[in-house]
Amino acid sequence: MVKKKTCVFISGYGSNLKNLISYSRDNSFPINISLVISNKKEAHGLIYAKKYKIPYIFIDTKFKNYENKIFFNLKKYKISFICLAGYMKIISKNLIKNYQRKIINIHPSLLPKFKGLDTFSRMLNNREKKAGCTVHYVNEKLDSGSIILQKNFEIEKNDNEKILKYKTQKLEYRAFPEAIVKIFRKN
Ligand code: GRF
Repeated sequence: MVKKKTCVFISGYGSNLKNLISYSRDNSFPINISLVISNKKEAHGLIYAKKYKIPYIFIDTKFKNYENKIFFNLKKYKISFICLAGYMKIISKNLIKNYQRKIINIHPSLLPKFKGLDTFSRMLNNREKKAGCTVHYVNEKLDSGSIILQKNFEIEKNDNEKILKYKTQKLEYRAFPEAIVKIFRKN
């Protein structure tokens, strides 16, 4: 099996990146993490790129031509698939156009509910019964592309934002790899 050369975009802690790296070390997993892009110079997740000797770059989105740098590197590393894992920046129309149905994102809610930020506090305020995560394709509208896979759990009486985040991320570590397997099994 020829593994898809994949770039993971991050901004922060990088626990999903770490999880995907560990899955991708299995020969039967359909992707290989060939590049990591961060829009934060100090993103904790970059330590995983360093540890596993994966090329990584910092993109300073303050610069006007930052997108050229993204395209240059995606081309340089022959990237054919992109995973957004806690990337806190909107992806440009241009990138989406060039990677139609080849960019996926993981979001900490049961979309279409709770798009955007602060999902856990909004869920609690809304007295939701269920929480979970969604892996979806990225299109031009925020957190609105078609859904690949969701996983959910029942919210318990004592759950607060911290606990919801913990439970959600535990599900994310299964959902993201499962979604990737599902995508490439179809093709
Ligand atoms: C994840 O919980 C994901 O749902 C959201 O950002 C978080 C990133 O966490 N999009 P990490 O950086 O992978 O630890």
